[in-house]
Amino acid sequence: MSDDPQVGVYPGSFDPVTFGHDDLIRRSLKIVDRIVVGVAEVSTEEKEGMFRVPERVEILREVYGDLSRVEVVSFSGLLVEFARQQDASLIIRGLRAVSDFEYEFQMALMNRSLWPDVEVIFMAPSNEYTFISSTLVREVASLGGDVSDFVPGPALRRLEDRFGPGVRGE
Ligand code: PNS
Repeated sequence: MSDDPQVGVYPGSFDPVTFGHDDLIRRSLKIVDRIVVGVAEVSTEEKEGMFRVPERVEILREVYGDLSRVEVVSFSGLLVEFARQQDASLIIRGLRAVSDFEYEFQMALMNRSLWPDVEVIFMAPSNEYTFISSTLVREVASLGGDVSDFVPGPALRRLEDRFGPGVRGE
């Protein structure tokens, strides 16, 4: 084992960051010395987003501003290239349910075939967060539902600006 700090990349769309992502980021700090949260400019599915990438980054930076071991960066292009640039030998992804597995497994093998030295680690979030996804948060918030149990404050504030006080149950 080398003495170099172990860096992990945690990539995703983060549109917006949820307590599920947050749980994984905090857990992964037990495994790596530093984690780089990578906000993809374009995801594999080329999904149209709610927040623009710079705003997603801004939200994440507000959430992790006081954690020196967490860095937030956006990236375009291949994830493995981004990981290499960050000196990260680990890619961390969350698995909420078996339904996530097929897509994640395929991506992990593709990433490893692009860069054989990379390791992909799947982590399980805490039980209470397994049903949360950014997609559902966007849908519920846009329909005026209360999402305050699902996203950190900086994300909730942006959602409130857009959809009104209903998003925090008021
Ligand atoms: O939060 P998401 O949308 O599930 O994250 C998907 C993401 C961003 C990890 C994936 O789309 C990705 O890695 N995009 C970067 C482009 C890339 O490397 N594609 C090949 C993946 S095998």
